[in-house]
Amino acid sequence: MGDPVVVTDNGGVRIIRMNRPEKKNALTLPMYVAMARALREAEASDAIRCVIFAGSPGAFCAGNDIGDFLDAADGGLDPRTLEFLHALARSRKPLVAAVAGIAIGIGTTMLFHCDYVVAGAGAVFSTPFLKLALIPEAASSLLAPMRMGHARAFSMLVMGRPLSAEEAREAGVVNSVVDGAEVDDVALKAALEIAALPAEAVAVARRLMRGHLDDIVRQIDTEAMHFKELLRSDEARAAFAAFLARKK
Ligand code: COA
Repeated sequence: MGDPVVVTDNGGVRIIRMNRPEKKNALTLPMYVAMARALREAEASDAIRCVIFAGSPGAFCAGNDIGDFLDAADGGLDPRTLEFLHALARSRKPLVAAVAGIAIGIGTTMLFHCDYVVAGAGAVFSTPFLKLALIPEAASSLLAPMRMGHARAFSMLVMGRPLSAEEAREAGVVNSVVDGAEVDDVALKAALEIAALPAEAVAVARRLMRGHLDDIVRQIDTEAMHFKELLRSDEARAAFAAFLARKK
């Protein structure tokens, strides 16, 4: 099993790997905390010039842990979850993602903060928020329509229709689609290419390209305000309970 988030540095590239394959890399609070810390450290380091998010073969990330959602319905959403989203939005380091399999919920919405996404041919991108009586998060309600247009964003974010790797590439979410076994290598190659560029110029260029940071952070916070309310609804609780009971 090992640590649920494994951080390694390789020639100017920090790799943040979600490592909870037995749960398809569903994210728990300690994982958010570890990923936020890894991003903050990268931010503070001149040696790290690019960050890769990676997962396991077949599973990039199955979204927030639904057991944690159920707990949050009673106890409230831990603010440390938001710290990861803020760190993601505020990152000055270029972000690359290696998506070797399913990317659900935050597994997809975090990609809108990434600059270069490599997907395995079998990867599936899905945001079933509304099916859980929730709403899109991580500023995806702002960033997804910007990236793929309202029509495609609505179909994915609101109707919960998944995208294949090829459809995600056509929608502008994914840069390249490769064999699943090659995803990590191709992502590392791209990250090393980015890391070799002049770091300050890269930071300024991507900030100019990404739109207004304050708007993005404000959207994260506004979404979170609604999200916290909706988590407590009877519909959401029933959807979480149904998922957790589905094998019984
Ligand atoms: N939260 C908690 N546990 C999760 C999870 C999640 N988001 N996603 C997967 N898991 C767990 C499953 O409960 C299962 O645990 P178990 O072996 O103890 O029963 C394990 O991971 C493997 O998942 P399983 O459903 O058996 O694999 P699968 O290949 O049939 O399906 C998924 C994989 C990801 C499609 C399916 O698990 C799923 O739909 N997960 C929920 C995704 C989701 O709605 N996330 C929230 C988005 S906002």
